Amino acid sequence: MKLFENISLKPYTTFGIDVKARRMMMLEPGDEVPPLDGNVLVLGEGSNMVFTRDYDGTVITLAHSLSLSTPHSPLLTAWGGMVMDDLVQWTLDHDLFGLENLSAIPGTVGASAVQNVGAYGAEAKDFIENVEAYDLFEQRLCNFSNADCQFAYRDSFFKHHPGRYIILNVTYRLNQAFVPNLSYKALENLPHSTAHQLRQSIIDLRWSKLPRPEEHGSAGSFFKNPVVDEETYLRLKSEHPDMPDAHPLITHHSSLITYKLSAGWLIDHAGWKGRTMGGAGVWPKNALVLYNAGGCTGDEVVALARAIQQDVEQKFGVCLEPEAIII
Ligand code: EPU
Repeated sequence: MKLFENISLKPYTTFGIDVKARRMMMLEPGDEVPPLDGNVLVLGEGSNMVFTRDYDGTVITLAHSLSLSTPHSPLLTAWGGMVMDDLVQWTLDHDLFGLENLSAIPGTVGASAVQNVGAYGAEAKDFIENVEAYDLFEQRLCNFSNADCQFAYRDSFFKHHPGRYIILNVTYRLNQAFVPNLSYKALENLPHSTAHQLRQSIIDLRWSKLPRPEEHGSAGSFFKNPVVDEETYLRLKSEHPDMPDAHPLITHHSSLITYKLSAGWLIDHAGWKGRTMGGAGVWPKNALVLYNAGGCTGDEVVALARAIQQDVEQKFGVCLEPEAIII
């Protein structure tokens, strides 16, 4: 375990905002978590967090060590601090399939479970068997089955209990045969005969739409795609026939039919693509992504996000909810 005092979080978040934490504790696989008091924040790869001020407490992070075990095939347990994309590469190199559609998503294994990351027709929840976490309140290890995790679109049980759990290990159930998941339409026309080819196609597609982390800081999609009722969807579709079609979503617990709209389209058509406010900007190739256009502060990102939310609400009557966590 490594301990740091008064440390800059700039290298630990993908937005590259320069704030400090009073303390940081970096855990390695096998470390025991000591009792902690005061404010505690668990940071993955910091790919989904925007800090607006210094953090007066302890930031816990997990070293990005490659640490895996195979309880029995096709189950695979990965250390929560492992970089998610390293895991995806490892699985394909060892003939375990399913995670290829999640290629190049920033963040760690643990964060991918908190956030239920998803892209190109796959979500982390489709493969997670169980999660081992340390409960900081009760100071004990606990296990969560897939159902216990209450996964939903960009959401989980853990997201509703910030500061309480450190995800130490995630066990995945993978496929031993490669069957390409081409449910995201654009993938059909890209090379996909092998899992490595499909991974490369997804990486290329992803980086054609998102800023390269080494060039511009961002948190990926800044907003969630909003889910609206049928009346709102039909109204918007008649007012804006060019708006992308949305598939009806039917939930198990209610008979209500809802539709997931494209936040990127709404922000783009409200005229925000490529605009900057202070040091924060809207990515010119994808309006869903806010980025660091040069030395931006967390407050500038929040001000830009608020301006976009207000404008989209006024123009389309739709409320956008940030996917990124603002601290
Ligand atoms: N669109 C525009 N203008 C834009 C951006 C998008 O008109 O500036 C339109 C597109 O043309 C398309 C629609 O919006 O018709 C949807 O766009 P896209 O397929 O690129 O996906 P998305 O809904 O914008 C979601 C995820 C991404 C994920 C992609 C691909 C969320 C919040 N975002 O984006 O996830 O990579 O689908 O599956 O669900 C992330 O979470 O960080 C992330 C990048």
